[in-house]
Amino acid sequence: MKSLNVETKSNIYPIYIADSFDYLRKAFIDASLDGNKAVLIADSNTAPLYADKVKGLIEDCFSYISVYTFVAGEKSKNLDTINSMYRFFIDSKLDRKSIVIALGGGVTGDMAGFAAATFMRGIKFVQIPTTLLAQVDSSVGGKVGVDFEGNKNMIGAFYQPQFVYINAKTLDTLPKTELSAGLSEAVKHGYIYDCDYLRFMFSNKEKIFSLNTESIIDVIYGSCKVKSDVVSKDEKESGLREILNFGHTFGHAIESLSGFKLVHGQCVSIGMIAALYLSYKKGFIKENELNLAKNLLEYFELPVNVIGFNAEDIYKQMLFDKKNKNNKINIVLLNSVGNAYTEKNVSEEEIKNAVEFVLN
Ligand SMILES: NC(=O)c1ccc[n+]([C@@H]2O[C@H](COP(=O)([O-])OP(=O)(O)OC[C@H]3O[C@@H](n4cnc5c(N)ncnc54)[C@H](O)[C@@H]3O)[C@@H](O)[C@H]2O)c1
Ligand SMILES: [Zn+2]
Repeated sequence: MKSLNVETKSNIYPIYIADSFDYLRKAFIDASLDGNKAVLIADSNTAPLYADKVKGLIEDCFSYISVYTFVAGEKSKNLDTINSMYRFFIDSKLDRKSIVIALGGGVTGDMAGFAAATFMRGIKFVQIPTTLLAQVDSSVGGKVGVDFEGNKNMIGAFYQPQFVYINAKTLDTLPKTELSAGLSEAVKHGYIYDCDYLRFMFSNKEKIFSLNTESIIDVIYGSCKVKSDVVSKDEKESGLREILNFGHTFGHAIESLSGFKLVHGQCVSIGMIAALYLSYKKGFIKENELNLAKNLLEYFELPVNVIGFNAEDIYKQMLFDKKNKNNKINIVLLNSVGNAYTEKNVSEEEIKNAVEFVLN
């Protein structure tokens, strides 16, 4: 088993990365969370696969543990589900010392974390992420929340878990497209922050994509390290954390315009190629490096271009999505491979050229 600590201003907590659930019970005891009431939250896919097993392994740690299940999918990620979680917490007689355990993907983690952050002004919570995306991205960093009236993650909080426990073997049941989606964010982590990790992914892509246990654990570790480093330095997104948006400014626009037919990880993959192209055009990376990125993403069955859109529409959508106020689009680019920065001076023409590059 591997582990690392995430340090934030509010606390320090461990991420355990294992190939089984064997150490889960000990993790609860080490965190002094035993002896209390707990609620295990899982969606309709992960509950039948893992809830009984996990509950069985940790049951005797708690005075009482019950399982709350909701219908899988982003559509459930709203305040109605949170409401019914609160109801369940009250019916299960949770108190201020009780523990919420999220067992599932990013939807489960974001919602369980938000419910825990707000119930009785905050009770402790633990993440057991079961999608690669949740393992390398959403379970690290403390962002929790729900969608509101069609706006993604509009209601939320920053709330850190007591620990994160990853059993890489849960990925064996994950649909391949979900695996690819997680790898898109993992590749992003390499490009923005860690050349060695990226090199590791290039040299081990076959083992990674076929879920060789040791290799996928190294991917999870490498990504958690990047994300936790970045987040530790900038917990509430005032600067450095922006680099995690690499590929996302382009990606989000494509995601919205596709009517969410393309999944997030696929759009980020296309968006990264646009951002890499821009970095190449600015003379920061070589053409060969851009081509290598394409090869790696394609190997992980991720798209590197998209049809059916035009540059003007994507540009308009990017303007609409932008978080900054003065009508300027900030884009995360690479100074060099493994080194990202936020570029505040990109012209409309440069952006459109980069978009054209991925449109065919
Ligand atoms: N908090 C953050 O920092 C952050 C970062 C990125 C994404 N997110 C959020 O994460 C969500 C996406 O996460 P996701 O892709 O994990 O979505 P998800 O939780 O919906 O999981 C994807 C699908 O896989 C299923 N599943 C989960 N684990 C499985 C397993 N081991 N075997 C078989 N099926 C399994 C789920 O039931 C679901 O159908 C979005 O809501 C997004 O906003 C949050
Ligand atoms: Zn993302």
